[in-house]
Amino acid sequence: MIVTVQQHILHDQKQFPGASGEFSWLLSGITLATKMVQARVRRAGLSDILGDAGDTNVQGEVQQKLDVYANEAMMHCLSARGSIGVLASEENEHPRLTAHCSPEAHYAVIFDPLDGSSNIDVNVSVGTTFSILRRPEGADCDDPEQWLLQPGKKQVAAGYVVYGSSTILVYSVGLGVHGFTLDPSVGAFILSHPNIKMPAKGKYYSVNEAYRDDFPPGYNPFIDRLRKGELGTKYASRYIGSMVADFHRTLLKGGIFLYPPTADHADGKLRLLYEANPIAFLAEQAGGIATSGSRRVLDIQPTSIHQRTPLIVGGTTEMTEFIRHVRHED
Ligand code: AHG
Ligand code: MN
Ligand code: MN
Repeated sequence: MIVTVQQHILHDQKQFPGASGEFSWLLSGITLATKMVQARVRRAGLSDILGDAGDTNVQGEVQQKLDVYANEAMMHCLSARGSIGVLASEENEHPRLTAHCSPEAHYAVIFDPLDGSSNIDVNVSVGTTFSILRRPEGADCDDPEQWLLQPGKKQVAAGYVVYGSSTILVYSVGLGVHGFTLDPSVGAFILSHPNIKMPAKGKYYSVNEAYRDDFPPGYNPFIDRLRKGELGTKYASRYIGSMVADFHRTLLKGGIFLYPPTADHADGKLRLLYEANPIAFLAEQAGGIATSGSRRVLDIQPTSIHQRTPLIVGGTTEMTEFIRHVRHED
């Protein structure tokens, strides 16, 4: 049986009394935007050469960089959804209030429109991440930060799209993690990976080892133990440099992904709200674990919308070992 993402969401939202279609309408804004982005990604490298009249001549617009385009696609598609009151993008300094912030606006949507953008020019996978929070009781429309500064455990849904060898949407509303592959011939995301569970143990670790001299104590001995087979098998390394793609592999194949604190980024490079929280939510829903190195990512109370956090995420075997051997406080 063919199940589209829309059918799946309609079914899932029956678990939320009162959601009555608003959630599926919201998510349809995300699926529409990501289909637009993937269409652009698929033409990356061509559009400058073949750019049709609409792209350049007639409107006199220069070809937009893909991360700007992706941001505008998300903003445009989500602004039209009445159930969304606040939009926050990694690309914008300030959160945006949707025009119709009203009592019916029940959600804030937070996203990284294009993750891994340094990979676009070299045909390597990139992605989009998103996180959905419920409007806190009594939150006003003129105070968007109140909507956004909630710990990740409050997310009502989270997900990502990887624009890879195919385009895949992975999402969770807290009822397991499900993957939908875009069938480009019909333009629909079709359920291809129901109820994803992260393997308890994998074969790969994923970290930018160029920074290893700057890692805090404990990280390198831990990585060495993986390499030397002290967890039973010798691990190999994989690092794409697109967090979504590195996490997607870790979700399906197991293992561990680490972005530790470094000399340039004392708090790690990844952003808590746009990147770490949705990934941590999906990891836990799939049976994995995500920590900042000192605490569960989903417990961190954000104090600013662009704050960063170290992120270490993976299957139970690697993560239990990490927590036991590398600095941890909770
Ligand atoms: P973005 O493209 O949204 O700025 O994010 C890039 C991030 C993330 O995708 C990846 O894990 C990390 O940058 C790679 O950074 P390094 O090159 O420092 O390893
Ligand atoms: Mn990113
Ligand atoms: Mn980005």
